[in-house]
Amino acid sequence: MKFSHELIEKNSALLILLVILTVSVGGLVEIVPLFFQRSTTEPVEGLKPYAPVELTGRDIYVREGCYNCHSQMIRPFRAETERYGHYSVAGEFVYDRPFQWGSKRTGPDLARVGGRYSNDWHRSHLNNPRELVPESNMPAYPWLAKTPADATDIETKLKTLRTLGHPYTDEDIAGAAKQLAGKTEQDALIAYLQVLGTAIKTKR
Ligand code: HEC
Repeated sequence: MKFSHELIEKNSALLILLVILTVSVGGLVEIVPLFFQRSTTEPVEGLKPYAPVELTGRDIYVREGCYNCHSQMIRPFRAETERYGHYSVAGEFVYDRPFQWGSKRTGPDLARVGGRYSNDWHRSHLNNPRELVPESNMPAYPWLAKTPADATDIETKLKTLRTLGHPYTDEDIAGAAKQLAGKTEQDALIAYLQVLGTAIKTKR
């Protein structure tokens, strides 16, 4: 029988089969290499795993749902890089489990907010955003300043992340709880914000 496109068009089972085959091969060719490329699997130079205080802050960021209004992914467009700095690269996120890229931007992207403001700025802003940005619709998080950072499971967290390849040493793990002593949840969250995007030197 002569092969003709008509045959595929008139036979829906064959059409479905061939579509699945084409999409799978196309998908695999695009996706599989990403698991082996250095640029997507290796940390960028200078990237450190989160310190215990930063990691605790990151969990507070997730708990409070900051990602509902803030993305952490600068796209490679001029409008974005002019505003936020160098676009995000995959190697910056190898110690983020799960990553906080997000897509909702009620507020600005935070991928490179580290070092942009002082700790005091963040304190006032988290206690009451309207104090610094009168038109802000960001909620206030005053209780973070009054709640001690929880150190009970920090060792377990670091150990778990180490099994996934985060390079924590035994000393890091043993000393983790001590680093949280006397810190509030607000201190931890600010420590996290201040390290975001700082592995890549970027001019703004
Ligand atoms: C309801 C949406 C919303 C939520 C939830 C939210 N924010 Fe915001 N955020 C905003 C908006 C809008 C702005 C811009 C106005 C301002 O600076 O207050 C902003 C600004 C910021 C800025 C300053 C960014 C810059 O580059 O100027 C930081 C830092 C920030 N938010 C952190 C947080 C953190 C941390 C949380 C979670 C504890 C959070 N936000 C939750 C809406 C939100």
